[in-house]
Amino acid sequence: MRIELTVNGDRRQCDAWGGESLLFVLREQLGLPGSKNACEQGECGSCSVLLDGELAAGQADGCEVTTVEGLADGDRLHPVQQAFVEAGAVQCGFCTPGLVVAAADLLAANASPTDDEIREALSGNICRCTGYQKILDAVHLAAGRTDGEREGGR
Ligand code: FES
Repeated sequence: MRIELTVNGDRRQCDAWGGESLLFVLREQLGLPGSKNACEQGECGSCSVLLDGELAAGQADGCEVTTVEGLADGDRLHPVQQAFVEAGAVQCGFCTPGLVVAAADLLAANASPTDDEIREALSGNICRCTGYQKILDAVHLAAGRTDGEREGGR
């Protein structure tokens, strides 16, 4: 089937089998490799994207998709991306795109989350490297910088 969707602000079209995963379409057909396929089962969160502004996956025809590539504003990193760098929350980096998207979604809804709220919001994203403390630090660091922003301030 021919699908048309908005990805990171651009209208895109491609041919996709109706049962194809959005991740495959993004990575292999639309050339956006930021979203990862770490567990290959949709369980670890490395594939997280925003679908119509909400953290989700599923049917994308006609939807607006935001991937990690779409969070930055040109050369200016999204506050969550910048905070992950500054807080040292990136080690191997495989989990990072999904965590950044999930954290951006959290902060768009809750500008000052508690540790428990961050843990709950990021509970679908698995990191094997950091022990999570630096990720918590990064989200707190970004929290004060994202007031009024939604999906990178679009
Ligand atoms: S930084 Fe390696 S899995 Fe999270």
